Amino acid sequence: MEIVHTVRDLQAALAALRAQGKTVGLVPTMGALHAGHASLVKRSVAENDATVVSVFVNPTQFNDKTDLEKYPRTLEVDCRLLDECGAAIAFAPSVEEVYPEPDTRHFSYAPLDTVMEGKYRPGHFNGVCQVVSKLFDMVKPDRAYFGEKDFQQLAIIREMVRQMHFPLQIVGCPIVREADGLALSSRNKRLTAEQRTQALQISQTLFASVEYAKEHTVQETRQFVEDRIAAAPGLRLEYFELVDGNTLQSIARWEDTTYAVGCITVFCGDVRLIDNIKY
Ligand code: PAF
Repeated sequence: MEIVHTVRDLQAALAALRAQGKTVGLVPTMGALHAGHASLVKRSVAENDATVVSVFVNPTQFNDKTDLEKYPRTLEVDCRLLDECGAAIAFAPSVEEVYPEPDTRHFSYAPLDTVMEGKYRPGHFNGVCQVVSKLFDMVKPDRAYFGEKDFQQLAIIREMVRQMHFPLQIVGCPIVREADGLALSSRNKRLTAEQRTQALQISQTLFASVEYAKEHTVQETRQFVEDRIAAAPGLRLEYFELVDGNTLQSIARWEDTTYAVGCITVFCGDVRLIDNIKY
């Protein structure tokens, strides 16, 4: 696997692949890679001749400076994993390389980006769209892979691709969970042993809510989740929304959609964890 740090080297490596008529898959990441990322890379390796994985902690999508500073950075270990997964190129640029000057572009995909994460992390999706659109321009992939754990991000990127006519296919990949159900996240590395046990209640509550929902209304199911998280030691609910999986707008009745998704964000200590489940 080739490790490149500049757009120039990235594009030289890509030109060589394109000259051989090879298809290219892109997996954008912020590093601190885990089995969830590995599943995206393996899928891309299976579906494309060559896979580029970007490893870049994008400052423009962090609205909390401490969160940006504390975000784990483990490039050497990441590159070993990427090599094992069969990636062709790891692209690990500096902030100056990606943003030679401040990015003043403004992306707005209301109402997809005004609810949930968009409401609680103002500017977050603008930053995501800035970096992802730059990566699409730099790599010009045939396909790009994103995890369904960031459910809202995936919907917004699909919309950006649609509106900006990027000639590529977005591939959404299922959440990867620990054996006990906790959704894999780079942020899990920041949990203490006690918090790790407490965090388990997030996925357990979502699983239980799917059963509960079979016999209860949307409002009752929402209350069920809120009450269980409120009763769980060490957890603080930021929001739980039952939404239509395409529009991301809250539903009032199960009949409002054939694609209901529950999206949750919970603080475990100062670690902000997200998860979601289909009903
Ligand atoms: O999902 C992530 O890790 C990031 O938001 C992404 C898509 C790599 C953009 O920085």
